[in-house]
Amino acid sequence: MQQAPHRLPHALWHAASERYRRAGRFAWHFARGKLRHDPAFASVLAKGWIRPQSRVLDLGCGQGLLASLLLAVDSLAHEQHWPQDWAPPPRGCRVHGLELMPRDVARARTALADHAARARVEQGNIAHAPFSPADTVVLLDVLHYLPHEAQTQVLQRVHDCLAPGGHLVLRIGDHAAGLRFRFSQLVDRVIFRARGHASSSLYCRTADDWAQLLRDHGFEIQPGRMVSGSLFANTLMLARKPDAA
Ligand SMILES: C[S@@+](CC[C@H](N)C(=O)[O-])C[C@H]1O[C@@H](n2cnc3c(N)ncnc32)[C@H](O)[C@@H]1O
Repeated sequence: MQQAPHRLPHALWHAASERYRRAGRFAWHFARGKLRHDPAFASVLAKGWIRPQSRVLDLGCGQGLLASLLLAVDSLAHEQHWPQDWAPPPRGCRVHGLELMPRDVARARTALADHAARARVEQGNIAHAPFSPADTVVLLDVLHYLPHEAQTQVLQRVHDCLAPGGHLVLRIGDHAAGLRFRFSQLVDRVIFRARGHASSSLYCRTADDWAQLLRDHGFEIQPGRMVSGSLFANTLMLARKPDAA
């Protein structure tokens, strides 16, 4: 049965997006729109997929929206701002973001400047850049931009940098979703070009193939896989690195 998509409480959405005013009109409007309409951010919080006090590694972090949201959680997760049926708020997280595009890195750094000790964003290609040790790795709509071989290398390095019991939060396109998948691909390509990327090639798999690839790299797929309820053919899933034997 399809779940209703989660939404961020107004105060959280507002605090996380207001930080971008100082990074310019585009950054601010983009933050407001993405945090309001993309259900991934609220779902990850509601389901408790990022645990309190985690070291979060956000690969392909764009302008650092997740870091901004987690900072807002710290200051606003009182009872009146936190839905009762959500998992406990992930307070006290530290975020390390890696992002290819210098313009996004600049926007992230401007917005997060007052919190450099808790949220840092570096420019780098996740195919090569070193990964810092993490309790949670996030790959939201990024992995399909890398060729298939690079995808498997990234997943191997994600597994290596995660603590035992650590989480990988992954959202990827589902090649098996027919028309909705082709629509998502088209939008992805247009946005990718608009953001200044030289190539807009996408390297896709079906959601089941992604899950199998994760298992092949030693991850356990956790319950709660979420298929996007919108026009987009995206699947949000949680994989876990098993505890040390
Ligand atoms: C669709 S956006 C998603 C941004 C962010 N994860 C979010 O959900 O808001 C994909 C991001 O991945 C970045 N990206 C793509 N390939 C990358 C690579 N090889 N290394 C680092 N970042 C990459 C893009 O520049 C873009 O910012």
